[in-house]
Amino acid sequence: MSYPRSMMSPVNVAERSGNGEVDWDAFNSAAYFSHNYGELRADDTAIIEIVADFFDGNPPPSDMGRAIDVGSGANLYPAMVMLPYASQVTLVERSFTNREWLAAELGLPHRSWQLFWKVISAGRSAYAPIKEPMETLHGRVRVERGNVFSLAPERYDVGTMFFVAESITTRTDEFERATRLFVNALRRNAPFAAAFMRHSFGYDVAGKHFPACSINEDDVSRALAPVARNVMIERVTSEGLRPGYDGMIVATGRRK
Ligand SMILES: C[S@@+](CC[C@H](N)C(=O)[O-])C[C@H]1O[C@@H](n2cnc3c(N)ncnc32)[C@H](O)[C@@H]1O
Repeated sequence: MSYPRSMMSPVNVAERSGNGEVDWDAFNSAAYFSHNYGELRADDTAIIEIVADFFDGNPPPSDMGRAIDVGSGANLYPAMVMLPYASQVTLVERSFTNREWLAAELGLPHRSWQLFWKVISAGRSAYAPIKEPMETLHGRVRVERGNVFSLAPERYDVGTMFFVAESITTRTDEFERATRLFVNALRRNAPFAAAFMRHSFGYDVAGKHFPACSINEDDVSRALAPVARNVMIERVTSEGLRPGYDGMIVATGRRK
């Protein structure tokens, strides 16, 4: 996950930054990966169960269409969860360092992703035909330079956005816009899953501070209301990733 997965220093709490004021090319992808996804944590396991079950019961209206994961960072598991439902998976990233990391990682993935795949695929028949998940992922993924605030509308059949809207800005209006523009990039009725850090005050990656917007379940609900239907919001317990957050939130639903 994301953002909270690092240490927050109290001196940073007072800083205010919009998304455009942050040097995203200074994001240390390797440090972020190792802190968050070098091993499988209980919080990510819980999120996977929610999201994989949701897509299982709510597949996209069109078979094997296009998937999008927004702000992928150094996280491959949202894309892995969408594999049975998409012939193409676009990973949209603003950060050059994360795009470079993703391209390299897809060719030579860390072993920890196998642990994530085990949880994703266990007991779900949709994943059974995928025998070599990392090779399949590599074959279907496109890493694209992009910005959640300028995504074209109605392009994708299924989508994920994990720890992005609330973890790229301190501004509530940008959190809401990012959430809505992500859903807006999907076609009508397309299913989506989004994860959020709860009550986060920002995070450090390899000593560099990144902003966050402190949100709760009501904020997520409010952000999604104009663009989504059948929204389910669940709180996920998470401890020990770093100080300065209070669990995680997962939202699923369909674009209106
Ligand atoms: C906290 S990280 C989350 C990474 C990953 N999704 C995860 O689950 O761990 C936030 C990510 O959003 C990316 N990002 C920042 N601003 C963005 C923007 N305007 N559009 C798209 N991605 C952005 C950052 O480069 C970073 O990879």
